[in-house]
Amino acid sequence: MTHNKFLIVAAAALAMSLSASAFAVDADAAKQLAKQNNCFKCHAIDKDKDGPAYHKVAEKLKGKPDAEEKLIHHITSGEKAKFPDGHEEEHKIVKTSPPHDEAQIKNLVQWILAQ
Ligand code: HEC
Repeated sequence: MTHNKFLIVAAAALAMSLSASAFAVDADAAKQLAKQNNCFKCHAIDKDKDGPAYHKVAEKLKGKPDAEEKLIHHITSGEKAKFPDGHEEEHKIVKTSPPHDEAQIKNLVQWILAQ
């Protein structure tokens, strides 16, 4: 009986750790991708540069169901971005290797939303 109980607890712990890791953001991979794409030239985590601080973006979109979709569109479509001096240009499109790797783009967006 005790043995069975141990197995149930062990199985539950394993299931929990598996589901947690399935949704975990890989922060190192996200930062590396951002670095490779020069995102940090215009963005920092907690201060505004030409682009808004990622912390501010995360605050603004917190709890919005379409936050992920909106940011994926923002960094893959080349939509117009407004700079602090008022001029507009197409926002940088993120490049992944292999190209258009959805998992890497999603990981980067989830990381931004967690700042
Ligand atoms: C040349 C400067 C520049 C580079 C490089 C750049 N951005 Fe931006 N980004 C901006 C500006 C300016 C805005 C503000 C756009 C606006 O409000 O119209 C912005 C906005 C954003 C936002 C907020 C969008 C929103 O809807 O609130 C995110 C997220 C973002 N950028 C991510 C990235 C990522 C990821 C990269 C790298 C792949 C990147 N940016 C590279 C200038 C840049």
